[in-house]
This record gives sequence, structure tokens and C-alpha cells, in this order.
Amino acid sequence: MPQIRLNNITKRFGKAIAVDDLTIEIGDGEFVTLLGPSGCGKTTTLRMIAGLETPTDGDIYIDDVCVFSSEKGIDISPDKRNVGFLFQNYALWPHMTVYKNVSFGLENMKWDKNRIKERVFELLAMLRIEEYSERYPSELSGGQQQRVAIARTLSTGPKILFMDEPLSNLDAKLRMEMRTELKRLHLETGSTFVYVTHDQLEAMTLSTKICLLKEGLLQQYEPPLDIYRYPANYFVADFVGSPNINIIEMEGEQINLDEIKLTNNQLSLLYTPNSSSITIPKGKKLLLGVRPEDIEICDEGTIEAAIYSTLPSGMETIVKLDIAGLLVTCVVFGGVDFPIGSRVKIAFNAKNYVLFDRESERNIASGTLS
Ligand SMILES: Nc1ncnc2c1ncn2[C@@H]1O[C@H](COP(=O)(O)OP(=O)(O)O)[C@@H](O)[C@H]1O
Ligand SMILES: [Mg+2]
Repeated sequence: MPQIRLNNITKRFGKAIAVDDLTIEIGDGEFVTLLGPSGCGKTTTLRMIAGLETPTDGDIYIDDVCVFSSEKGIDISPDKRNVGFLFQNYALWPHMTVYKNVSFGLENMKWDKNRIKERVFELLAMLRIEEYSERYPSELSGGQQQRVAIARTLSTGPKILFMDEPLSNLDAKLRMEMRTELKRLHLETGSTFVYVTHDQLEAMTLSTKICLLKEGLLQQYEPPLDIYRYPANYFVADFVGSPNINIIEMEGEQINLDEIKLTNNQLSLLYTPNSSSITIPKGKKLLLGVRPEDIEICDEGTIEAAIYSTLPSGMETIVKLDIAGLLVTCVVFGGVDFPIGSRVKIAFNAKNYVLFDRESERNIASGTLS
């Protein structure tokens, strides 16, 4: 049973459409990330589910209860939706200790003193900040403050937790650490997380499903690795993955039932779709999507290339290759410092090279190259 259901949700601000006819279901216990560039409607979507923003059109269900319907005139207030929030500016109360910050909501709910104490320390332990219970927020690091904010949000045991870019104020190292904690927390609480970020890596690593938006329109709603391997269109392919996917302009020609010849000035490749449901007319303009890790530098390779640049970072090396004027990016595991200008051979040995129609930019096939 889906826990959250959005049916044809639209939000207009005046003439501008922030969210355009969005229909998604979020299952119980999922970690769904709303992902997309700034202004694509992520925050608006989250706020509508939470009840902080009124949709212009559509219905929203939580646990099979209609919490919003434009047609039926239903709009249940946020405090009755059993949800918790964690926003980017997680302002803790500066004059209250960590303990007080976390216990405050429970005191408001008139919990018994001993039960509050038990609950607060359970949360502080879960977030590994027990020893700071008597400190004030100003005596904590950014990461510790963020943990307190999370503990505070979790205190009342919301079944659904909304988070809007909660890590964006933290430095890179802390952000990494908090990602690990959030993922663990998701498992430990068993709550449903609805998370907003513009950071594709964060979405990839945390989510059970990514809801990728562009200008208010849903592009794809699937598990991270499916989005990565089978992007619905060029925008999605380009938005996820770092370094970016290589997009190579090619012309196609069907040469037999399951083989397509792809050519441009530098390359001539044979493409075999994994399922042969397409037919490509001669001269069809296509885009070939090649992930950087799917280009192999090896002696057995049949394509000649020159090293254009290398960026060794220790664990991996990003290598830019020049194939007769066509620049492509590849990633090699480990620190390999190829001299600039040296010649190498490359091969396309992976299983999922994506083909896009250059006009519609839609994914039309995934397949192998030879
Ligand atoms: N209160 C508002 N009034 C007018 N326009 C708004 C308001 N809130 C958001 N918008 C517009 O709606 C679009 C989506 O905004 P938002 O949901 O905040 O995007 P995101 O969180 O993805 O960056 C943007 O174009 C934004 O300018
Ligand atoms: Mg936002």
C-alpha cells in the first residue's frame, strides 16, 4: 500500500507553473528524493505534501486518507498529518541546552518526565551526541548541531519525515558523514523519508527511489541505479553521474534486424540493442550516451586516442581522451598518470550504452557496442 499518493498535483504561482501535473506514489518506509536543478519545484512539492502549501489542482493521500483535494475542498492542516520536518536552516533554540531542544516538543505534548528522559537519551544515543546533552548550541560544531536538529525532529516519532536540503550548510566532509548517518537512521526508525536535494550524488547514495524534476515536470521516478543506467532522456542522463556522461552525436543506419551502424567523423561502431524493438532509418540523428567508466583503456582496444589531460585523485583518475578531435571523458580506477599527448587504445566493452533520439532527446535503446 502506498503511504503517500499525489494525483495530478499542479501548483501555480500566478501564471508561473511550479509543479506540473505530478502523479507519484511513495511506499511505506521508502527514502524518496526529490531531485533537480534549482527552481524545478522540489521544495514546493515537499511543502504541498506536508500541508504548508496549497496545491492549485489535484489530490494528496497519506495512509489512504485524503489530506488534500481541490475538487472535494479538503485541506487537512500540517499538524494533523503526522509528519516531521527538517529544513535547511535548522535553527536550534540558542538559549536551550541540547536536552531541552530535543525534549521541548514532548513536554508540549505533556509526556511524563521519566518517559521524556528515556526518549531523549535514546535519540541522543542514536545520533551519537549523548555526551553533549547539557551543552548549548553555540558550544557545538555544525555537524553536532545538525544531529540535535534531527533528534528534535524525530522526538515525536513522525511516521513521515520531510527534509529539505538538510546538509547543504555543512562542509564536504561533514556532509559525507551525515549521509551515512541519515541512511542508518532511515533503517533504524523505519520511517518514510521524503528528501529534497539538488545534489545528484546525495540522491544517488541515499535514496530507494529518485523523483527527478525539471521545470516542474516529472522526468523519471525510479531507483537510483535504474536512473543511472536507463535514463529516460538526455536531461536525466546528464544530470546524474560525475563526471558527466559522454554524449556523442552520431548518425544511425539499421543494417540488419538487431544491428545499427553508428557513425560520425571520428567513429564507426556497431550497436546491438538489448531488446530489438527499434528500427533506425538511414541518416537518423542520434545521441550515443557513454558513461566515463564504460570506456576502457586497453591494449586490445580497436580505437586510437591521444591523452588530452589526466586528473589523478588517488582512488581514481579522470582521463580526457582525444579521438581525432572528439573529446571524451573516461575514468580509470587508481592513480594512473598518463603523459599528455601519449597514444592509447580504447574499447567499449560495457553492457549499457544508451541511445537517444537527437530530436526528442528521449531514450530509445540501451545496448552493446562493437
Ligand atoms: N511563494 C512563491 N511565490 C511565487 N513563486 C514561487 C513561490 N515559491 C516558489 N516559487 C517559484 O516556483 C518555482 C519552484 O520553486 P521551488 O519549489 O522552491 O524550487 P526548488 O526547491 O526546486 O529550488 C520557482 O520558479 C520559484 O521561483
Ligand atoms: Mg528548494
